[in-house]
Amino acid sequence: MKNQFAKDIEEGLNKNPKSLSSKYFYDEVGSSLFSEIMKLPEYYLTNSEFEIFQKQSLEIIKALNLKKVETFELIELGAGDGYKTIELLKVLEAESFSYKYIPIDISQKALDQINHNIKEQLPHLEIAHRKGDYFNILKKLNESSYPKVILFLGSNIGNMNDTIASSFLMNLSNNLSKGDKLILGADLMKSKEIVLPAYNDKQGVTRAFNLNLLNRINREFDADFDLEKFEHAPEYDEVDGVAKSSIQSNVDQTVHLKKLDLKVEFESGESIHTEISRKYNDEIINKISFHSGLKIMDKFLDSKNYFADYILEKQS
Ligand code: AVI
Repeated sequence: MKNQFAKDIEEGLNKNPKSLSSKYFYDEVGSSLFSEIMKLPEYYLTNSEFEIFQKQSLEIIKALNLKKVETFELIELGAGDGYKTIELLKVLEAESFSYKYIPIDISQKALDQINHNIKEQLPHLEIAHRKGDYFNILKKLNESSYPKVILFLGSNIGNMNDTIASSFLMNLSNNLSKGDKLILGADLMKSKEIVLPAYNDKQGVTRAFNLNLLNRINREFDADFDLEKFEHAPEYDEVDGVAKSSIQSNVDQTVHLKKLDLKVEFESGESIHTEISRKYNDEIINKISFHSGLKIMDKFLDSKNYFADYILEKQS
């Protein structure tokens, strides 16, 4: 039986224009390349959001309107290494709030990493991590009566187009109760001179991250993509605020994916679209959250106004 990745490859490479989903970037090599990307000087997103949590965690906590006497659940979707969240956790500890921290990730490696980092910096904090699909876990968690604060940081929402982002927020909201909050990290619309280098760094780490998808397909499906014959091709449209990454063929060529019994023809200059990274403003956040019943209550910006953490509240 074919797995979902196999089905998506067949569909995506037989389409015109060709495409593959960015969710397949994150094998072991891809995940470690993404960790490297987050440390690059050009990739301003991580530092900007870190600065928001480092300098404004107390204000963020005030805006969440939590009661110190009432335990709440702080649930992080796709927690990564917890680098930014630890800043928030430190202030919650210092202010003696009562809460359970529940990071959710599909990768055990990511959960081990966050456990390790938190143990080092906040040895007394108990972590109730959960491994698996966000919505299955949220559904279970919603059976408890604890108020909830969801963290969805890093502009991860930006890797979905607006239609998918709207259904994601609707689905999220369906698993929450009135008054629950969402802290949503969103990279903001800005000039090409700032956005494009973040997806086209000098060291070529993002290039390796994008092309690693072909390596993964070579490995898992016995394919013969020759990485020398493909290029990383990022673009950013300032007007609609969407950064797009593609893998472009340098020559006319045929690639054979043996395990799928599939031959794919490429013309010179033809692309496989691999990722969108949407950039936001208030209007777009309002648009994608409109049908979800989640309403913007507050917004925190970094000192350069590059990135925002929005606080949304479930209305009814
Ligand atoms: C995970 N995500 C928010 C990153 C982004 O900025 O879209 C993934 C990434 N792609 C290339 N560089 C980083």
